[in-house]
Amino acid sequence: MNTGYDWRPEQARKSLNRILPEAETAFSDELQQAIHEWNKFKSRLHAEWERLFIYLHGLYGWQYDFFYTLQRIVHSLVRYWLARPAELKKLDAKREADPFRLTSEKMVGGVLYVDLFSDNLSKLGDHLPYFKKLGITYLHLMPLFAVPRGDNDGGYAVSDYRAVNPDIGSMDDLAKLAAALREEEISLVLDFVFNHTSDEHIWAQKAKAGDPDFLSYYLTFPDRELPDQFQKYLRDIFPTIRKGSFTWCEDMNRWVWTTFNSYQWDLNYANPEVFRAMAEEMLFLANQGVEVLRLDAVAFIWKRLGTNCENLPEAHTIIRAFNAMARIVAPCVSYKSEAIVEPDEVIRYIHPDECRLSYNPLLMALLWEALATQETKLLEYSLNKRYRIPEGCTWVNYIRCHDDIGWTFDDQDARAVGIDPVGHRYFLNQFYTGEYPGSFSRGVPFQFNADTGDLRISGTLSSLAGLEDAITKKDDELIEKAVRRINLLRSIMMSIGGIPLLYIGDEWGMLNDYTYLSDPLKAADSRWVHRSKKRWEAREDLADQDTLEWRFFHEMIKLINLRKTLPALQNGGMEVINTGNPHLFGYIRAFNHQRLLIVNNFSEQQLMMGVAHLRDCGVKGDVVNLLKDEILSSGSDMLLHDYQAVWLDISAP
Ligand code: GLC
Repeated sequence: MNTGYDWRPEQARKSLNRILPEAETAFSDELQQAIHEWNKFKSRLHAEWERLFIYLHGLYGWQYDFFYTLQRIVHSLVRYWLARPAELKKLDAKREADPFRLTSEKMVGGVLYVDLFSDNLSKLGDHLPYFKKLGITYLHLMPLFAVPRGDNDGGYAVSDYRAVNPDIGSMDDLAKLAAALREEEISLVLDFVFNHTSDEHIWAQKAKAGDPDFLSYYLTFPDRELPDQFQKYLRDIFPTIRKGSFTWCEDMNRWVWTTFNSYQWDLNYANPEVFRAMAEEMLFLANQGVEVLRLDAVAFIWKRLGTNCENLPEAHTIIRAFNAMARIVAPCVSYKSEAIVEPDEVIRYIHPDECRLSYNPLLMALLWEALATQETKLLEYSLNKRYRIPEGCTWVNYIRCHDDIGWTFDDQDARAVGIDPVGHRYFLNQFYTGEYPGSFSRGVPFQFNADTGDLRISGTLSSLAGLEDAITKKDDELIEKAVRRINLLRSIMMSIGGIPLLYIGDEWGMLNDYTYLSDPLKAADSRWVHRSKKRWEAREDLADQDTLEWRFFHEMIKLINLRKTLPALQNGGMEVINTGNPHLFGYIRAFNHQRLLIVNNFSEQQLMMGVAHLRDCGVKGDVVNLLKDEILSSGSDMLLHDYQAVWLDISAP
């Protein structure tokens, strides 16, 4: 009989009352040094403990030595808190006092590969003035840890979370860089690649050597019986490279679960030791001065037979448990989810107790969709329904990133606006690979799956938006059109609500780089077409106002500077409006007394937004278009040129 009585809070309290004195004894020497701060730690521990206990009990409570797991986890918390450098403890206090930093209009992100941008970590420090000039306050360095030589999925096959890839530097260099970034108020963002390790990680090596404790760190099988049963429901992530999600390992004489590449071994989170060990790796990273951890491949971390093993409830519980631990040891740390899955699932990872930040793959995909169709109905419908997220959380908005573009809009949404989702995805793939008649795009196919017809797209912002095609054709008119498309997308990324994340190189309009094709380690992965080496000569060009690079760069800076002066652009309300025109996409951003109406023309024709719709949005009297410093008089229709964006200040006087 369910009495409704929840025994867990009481048991949580009892367990902590038993464990804490024991931990205080175990760490008594070290605690002597930190006694004045111990109470602060303890109050955070008490505040988070109940939920941590409940999560862990849900995951591992059925195991007979659950209390031992709890004890070990409390020890980890104390150990990593003791090891946390004093400056980071100061940063914790500073960030706790400013909970709105991440949602502020002042936040602007950038992401780059260290080796491609500046060769190594120590030289990266020389480019801080560049980031300052751009106004970057959040810097994501793509995975920089020790990896296998040769193919390593662009750093996403980590062999050691505590060692930097020697080609780009050392942990010491990372610490120096982190300190320099802190000095400039730039938050360091690193990946926490926690779904899998590389097959060269010490745990994998021990598993290969037959150590049963480490064998249970991974999901391995003596024969095909279970893999075949699981496989029925799984999708292939990299189908052109490999079919199926399991790899035969000669050393172990067993099949290993490998969702991505065969050298990326999925961790077995059903084993509490794996949870604890990875929590320690996470806290170690936090103690290097990381403020945002990008949780890689979140969707895949829990498996259950008979499901597609994506987005299972336990995946959320694991992240929440990590979140509670970070909040106790390193409260300045936030998580960003990398869930490039259906929109309904993306949103489930976003919560202050889980991931405060999330990539916004829906906005990204639909901006490209609207650019191809020159129509905004799917964008308008989907965002109207799906933009809202819990208070204190924020989207990370991007147009391009290091990965491919997948058309992750919701099928029901598409049908609701009269679009056949399957046919539409086919059209978008044709369009962005330049196959569709009249297409301006020079995307490159990624991972065509012959069984499902699924395809994704690689390519840089500029090449996808028509610049490469226009330059090849030496057609000035087409070049201008491409420039306008690029600026339109950027202006939306800067204004719609969330942290705009620049894929560094896009600020000056980098094009596809096909040299990856001559590198045997990269040729099979077309994502390298948009992961090219930074051309520093382009920065030299920036003094020359005739170049496209100069124009792109300065337009970017102008947008960023403007964004930072407009409190209405902080994260929060974004109200999609009815523009009355199928090619326009508009929204209102408001905060305190500021109200902005932003309208974007996705068509290559000039057109009007009618006066009645403008009035419905609150436009009265003369209003200023902040992007051009021009005054628009109300009382008449508003003219928008092809691909024009306007940011109107419609605050009440
Ligand atoms: C994430 C990364 C991607 C990588 C995959 C496996 O999706 O963004 O680049 O291939 O995880 O780690």
